Amino acid sequence: MQAILLVGGFGTRLRPLTLTTPKQMLPVLHRPMVEHVVSGLARHGVERVVLALGYHDEAFRSAYPGGRCAGVELCCVVESEPLDTAGAIRFAYAASGMEDSRGTFLVANGDVITDLDVSEMLRLHRSAGAEATIHLIEVEDPSRYGVVVTEAGGRVSAFVEKPPRPAPSNWINAGTYLMEPSVVGRIDGGRRVSVEREIFPAMAADGTLWALKHNTYWVDAGTPQTYLRVQLDLLDGRRGPAVAGVSPEASVDPGAVVERSVVMAGAVVGEGSVVRGSAVHSSAVIEAGAQVMDSVVGSGATVGQGARVTDGTLVGEHFDVEPGATLSEARVPGAV
Ligand code: GDD
Ligand code: MG
Repeated sequence: MQAILLVGGFGTRLRPLTLTTPKQMLPVLHRPMVEHVVSGLARHGVERVVLALGYHDEAFRSAYPGGRCAGVELCCVVESEPLDTAGAIRFAYAASGMEDSRGTFLVANGDVITDLDVSEMLRLHRSAGAEATIHLIEVEDPSRYGVVVTEAGGRVSAFVEKPPRPAPSNWINAGTYLMEPSVVGRIDGGRRVSVEREIFPAMAADGTLWALKHNTYWVDAGTPQTYLRVQLDLLDGRRGPAVAGVSPEASVDPGAVVERSVVMAGAVVGEGSVVRGSAVHSSAVIEAGAQVMDSVVGSGATVGQGARVTDGTLVGEHFDVEPGATLSEARVPGAV
């Protein structure tokens, strides 16, 4: 099976971290997000992954110069301008030579970390004779997702992207799809096309779209809260054995408190400081007496002495938070 991974978005909800590093190259624990996604696909038999790139494509290409990632062959294709999700699928399908194989292929949003069983999805896809099959997850608040209504056997009767409340269902598009080549034929060339706003609604109307409801581990790591949550879940052992968050190559003062946090290689955590529920990226410095709670400190950034950084604050790469400053739900630097 071959897969197209959509990784060309701007990652606006994770700015300013994504101004310098594209979302899927941000670290999740100690590896880039994309490696978690690719190794998940590899566990389910995907042998070749096409990265559909655009924004900051060079970050991916320089990270995997040998054309392999997590044991899988990588092929990189770059849109000259963003084509949106369906436009990206059409472009990647042609540019990577996938059209020669004419088989069923997989597509995934590059920020989705899941334990989905692709083989189960493939069984439904085949037995239903579907043109495409999408994975669904049940959530409490579906408003920021694609909302899907299905018939008893799994055929999709409606697909509405980010609907106004109340949404017609609590089952949402979880961002992994199996597709037949005919789906590509539905996508216009030469313009932006959204798979969620245009292609899936048309297929639902035609009765050719199916869905697998499967409540397994699933996080879209594209917001500050979920980007932290996916890492805390790994630390807490919610996806297999608990893993250590503090890199052996980080320097944590014995007089500092680090709890449920990721502290990456080269980071320094000073005396009397507290880091809780947070991610401190490589070579960042948390000075003495500073507090970092439920926040992300980007690579090479500094949180000055006695400063307080809390509640989903994102500190951009190489930014210096002044000693004594208080930041809550902040993004620094701000709009650039
Ligand atoms: N190559 C390319 N080109 N990739 C793109 C483009 C583009 O123009 N636009 C977005 N992407 C990539 C993003 O990088 C991301 O990996 C993926 O497409 C989805 O975009 P997001 O911006 O993360 O979308 P979302 O989270 O608001 O919504 C999507 O995911 C939800 C589940 O997590 C939709 O698919 C929803 O329907 C779904 O419920
Ligand atoms: Mg997303």
